[in-house]
Amino acid sequence: MFGLFKKERKRGEQFLVGSTDIHCHILPGVDDGFASLSTSVELLEREANAGVKRVYFTPHSMGLSGAVVDPRSYGTHHHHHPHSSKGGKSESSRSIQDESANASVFSSERNYEFEIEKLRAENKIVPSSILQAAREKEYAEINKLPEFLGEPIGGFSDAHLKAKFEKFKEFYTGRVDVRLAAEYMMNKEFLDKVKAKDLLTYSDGVHVLVETSYYSAPLEMDEILYTLQIEGYKPILAHPERYRYMGWNDYEKLKEKGIEFQLTYLSLTGYYGKTTLKCALDLLDRGFFDYTGSDYHRTSTFIHYAHKLDFNRRRTEALEKLFANNSKL
Ligand SMILES: [Fe+2]
Repeated sequence: MFGLFKKERKRGEQFLVGSTDIHCHILPGVDDGFASLSTSVELLEREANAGVKRVYFTPHSMGLSGAVVDPRSYGTHHHHHPHSSKGGKSESSRSIQDESANASVFSSERNYEFEIEKLRAENKIVPSSILQAAREKEYAEINKLPEFLGEPIGGFSDAHLKAKFEKFKEFYTGRVDVRLAAEYMMNKEFLDKVKAKDLLTYSDGVHVLVETSYYSAPLEMDEILYTLQIEGYKPILAHPERYRYMGWNDYEKLKEKGIEFQLTYLSLTGYYGKTTLKCALDLLDRGFFDYTGSDYHRTSTFIHYAHKLDFNRRRTEALEKLFANNSKL
C-alpha cells in the first residue's frame, strides 16, 4: 500500500546520495536566505541524512548597488529587499513564516556568558535555548568588529562573509563538508572585483557563480563575462532558466562563449511556475546545463522538492550527469 509512495520519495532523493550542492543560501544572517544558526544546522543535518556530501554556501554578493541582507537577524544593516521591490517572489517574507518557530531568539542586551557561568556555578543545567542564543549572539557580534563597521550600505563584503563562515564552522560539527563561495550579481562593482582578482570562487580557484536580475540584462554583462575569462576565471551562470529576458539566441551565444550553466533543480518541479519549468526542460533536453544546485533559501524548499523530482530515464540520466559534474567542484 505504501510501496508506491516510498518509491516516489526515493526517485527524488536518489540524486542527493554522495552529492555536492554548488548553490544555496544556508549561511545564516548574510542575505535573504537562512536566518539563524540553528535552522541552518538543522537543514544540513537533513541533507546529511539524505546523503549530501558537500555544500557550497553561495551568499548573494551584490556590491554597492543593493544588498539582500535580511533585517530579521544579526542586524546592524537595514536594507530594502530588491527581489520584492522588483515584484519578484519575496524569499524573505516566506522564510519568516517557515522558520520563526525554530529560529532561536537572542537579545543583544543579555550577557549569556555570564548567565551560563552563573548557572554552572550553581550546578544547574544550562538550557539549550540559552546555549543556542549565546552562539547566535557571538555569530552576530562579527557585524560589530571594527574592520566591518564601516562597510557600505550595500551589504556584507566578501571579507565579512568569510569571517561569518569561519565562525559558522566553529559551531558546526555535522557531517557535511561545508565550503564558501558566492553568488555574484553582475554589475559595475563586480567588474571592479574581477579586475582586482578578488573573488570568492569554488575550491578550484577558477569557477565563479554569477547571476543577473530576473527581468533585464545588466549593461556590463558581456564585458564582465569577457573579463572573467581573460583573468582566468570560469563563470557559471546561476539558473539561466529563470531569467525572463533571455531567449534561445541569448542561451546559444552564452554557450558559444563557453559560459557554463547551473540548473536550479527546483525549476523542474514547477516550483517557479510553468514558464520556468518549460525553459528548464528545454535547456536540459538540449544538454545546455553543466551543473545543478538547490538555491535553498529556507528549509521548506527541501521538503517541497524531494517528492516531485520524477522523470523518464533520459532526463534522469541528464540530471545525474549534472550532479556528477558538481562533484568536481
Ligand atoms: Fe541564489
